[in-house]
Amino acid sequence: MRMVDVIQKKRNGKTLTKEEIEFFINGYTAGDIPDYQASALMMAVYFNGMESNETAMLTQAMVDSGETIDLSAIEGHKVDKHSTGGVGDKTTFIVGPLVASVGVPVAKMSGRGLGHTGGTLDKLESIKGFNIEMTKDKFINNVNTHKLAVAGQTGNLAPADKKLYALRDVTATVDSIPLIAGSIMSKKLASGADSIVLDVKTGSGAFMKELEDSKALAREMVNIGNNLGRNTVAVISDMNQPLGFEVGNANEVREACEVLQGKKVEDLRLLSLELASHMTVLAGVFSDFDSAYKTLEQNLENGKAFEAFRSLVSAQGGDVGVIDDLSKLPQSKYHVEVAAEKDGYVTAIDAESVGVAAMYLGAGRATKDDQINHGVGITLNKKVGDPVKKGEALVTLHSDDESPQDSIKKINEAYTLSEESPGKHKLIYDVIN
Ligand code: URA
Repeated sequence: MRMVDVIQKKRNGKTLTKEEIEFFINGYTAGDIPDYQASALMMAVYFNGMESNETAMLTQAMVDSGETIDLSAIEGHKVDKHSTGGVGDKTTFIVGPLVASVGVPVAKMSGRGLGHTGGTLDKLESIKGFNIEMTKDKFINNVNTHKLAVAGQTGNLAPADKKLYALRDVTATVDSIPLIAGSIMSKKLASGADSIVLDVKTGSGAFMKELEDSKALAREMVNIGNNLGRNTVAVISDMNQPLGFEVGNANEVREACEVLQGKKVEDLRLLSLELASHMTVLAGVFSDFDSAYKTLEQNLENGKAFEAFRSLVSAQGGDVGVIDDLSKLPQSKYHVEVAAEKDGYVTAIDAESVGVAAMYLGAGRATKDDQINHGVGITLNKKVGDPVKKGEALVTLHSDDESPQDSIKKINEAYTLSEESPGKHKLIYDVIN
């Protein structure tokens, strides 16, 4: 088989066979197929797309390019959750304990943040002593004992995707639905869960800005999951503004703990309950969504979900005193308000700009080797739909710099104010299963 013929076939809009896809993925991972031929194929896929079963075969070939994690030593039905990425998204800290609170095991492998999105591991390390490194045996043992463990990703999962994603990043071929779907699902499938709940974001701060594109991506991922033997559900949720009010590491842990203790942070609470309900239905603990939702909502009120989070923190060496008394979380030196320049209603908050403003404060990394400052972050005092008066604080920047000009500029770019009220944003647009 010759790579040039595979490229030509896709360029002409034809469907690739399993053999052709495996030839490409195996050859590219081994270094036998050069970047220039892989780029040409990615561009041909970008323009001509892939059939659903072709995308599923691509995904399976990427899974097979590396290790897969065997979670069979964990008792019960394992459900994983994945978000396509958002700003202020701390649902993992609520969803994990909620699901664990009804006995469903959550073996969460997470990553660090880069650029404008934060990473689950960085956020958890705001809690003094919290350790995300552990042996595989300890990880499995912790899930069996506490129903919940969070660890850094180990092993060589889907190396073909790692190489291809880096190539797509520099060849303008990231935003292709089959390629994104295959990329995300290859890593999820290699991580070993029995079922998967996807939180596909839509809006200005998401990969997919348009609802129809987000739905198409969700459908593609659900198809792949189901085709490859994992029950998969996708929730399409809003990312036209950050989720909740807090952005940053300690800030997000604080807000998540408050929700776990019963505080009604509307969007964050509702999305967490939605995702957790689908997960527990997939795990077979509840027969329908409504009864799952009702019980999980009770577990937020009666402290069971918070107790599950406390037990995670304690099992992984974290200081439980910090989450019992949130004032013990790392704090910044200064609190700088960014004021509205006119009267009006908040009609949009560009999540990506808020994420970049937080990164400038030191909450995120511009490059892989940057150090995180856990105490800095942003509190949104106004969200979409809120009326605002000139001079009122739109956000509070928690900063170690007395005058964080770059972040102030980004916040001013992020907020759009206008005279007309925009009404309420929808939070959940659709569920695809
Ligand atoms: N995230 C991924 O992991 N892959 C993509 O292609 C896009 C987003």
